Amino acid sequence: MKVCIVGASGKLGQYMVQHALDRGYEVVGVCREQSVAKLDAFKGRMTVIPGATNDSAVIRKAVAECDGVLTVLVPWGVQQYSTGTAQAVLDNAPPGARLIFSCGWHITRDGQDVYSWKLTTFVKVFGRIARLVRFADLDDQVEACRRIFASDTRWTVVRGSDLEEGPSQGLPAWSRHVGDPILESNLTRRIDFALFMVAALENDELIHEAPAIVGCQTPSALAFQGASQR
Ligand SMILES: NC(=O)c1ccc[n+]([C@@H]2O[C@H](COP(=O)([O-])OP(=O)(O)OC[C@H]3O[C@@H](n4cnc5c(N)ncnc54)[C@H](OP(=O)(O)O)[C@@H]3O)[C@@H](O)[C@H]2O)c1
Repeated sequence: MKVCIVGASGKLGQYMVQHALDRGYEVVGVCREQSVAKLDAFKGRMTVIPGATNDSAVIRKAVAECDGVLTVLVPWGVQQYSTGTAQAVLDNAPPGARLIFSCGWHITRDGQDVYSWKLTTFVKVFGRIARLVRFADLDDQVEACRRIFASDTRWTVVRGSDLEEGPSQGLPAWSRHVGDPILESNLTRRIDFALFMVAALENDELIHEAPAIVGCQTPSALAFQGASQR
């Protein structure tokens, strides 16, 4: 399997590179020119294509002949970077390729998610301030995901909870809607977020799903597993 990782130099991206290499996949990574050195640890084991991830020509070259594309969507800046990145992947990925995108719980596919006051307030306050100081635009990620949900590609949008570092605990649990009891702990190891993204490449049950994930060893995930075994 040949996979492209768009946004490979970030924390999530580097974990995805490692998981993909562990599975024996051929890996192509795209990252901004100034970040290429962050991938030095993988030198000789992957191909790196430097460039902006919202540049259609860069993405066209990177995704050629790929069976899967893993894309990190970030809201940084106010130049519609996420939307441009998603669109470039949707436009250029080979027909039939599995497309996996990352975002946060604040993205909703069908409006059925139930958010805590904490998350709602954070999105409102951080969103306004971030846009004001031109640091980030949360609506950009919303628009990127709207386009993905509307596309007829074989997509999955993985919605991450709060993240922490630490060794892997295994494949996260998931649910369709934020607010479902299994997700209550709202915490996932970043390395396992990456694991879920890479595993989704070969899980057709996740096509056209927007799973919200949570660490499999968190109290809410364990309580749910216990309940389902009773
Ligand atoms: N952090 C959280 O708590 C959290 C929670 C839930 C979901 N998520 C989701 O997880 C994913 C990755 O999050 P992360 O925190 O782990 O971050 P990350 O992996 O470090 O990814 C950051 C990415 O953003 C790029 N980037 C940074 N500044 C940029 C800029 N000004 N313009 C364009 N690109 C820029 C980085 O590229 P360079 O290497 O070139 O800098 C890197 O590819 C995202 O989809 C996010 O929505 C995060």
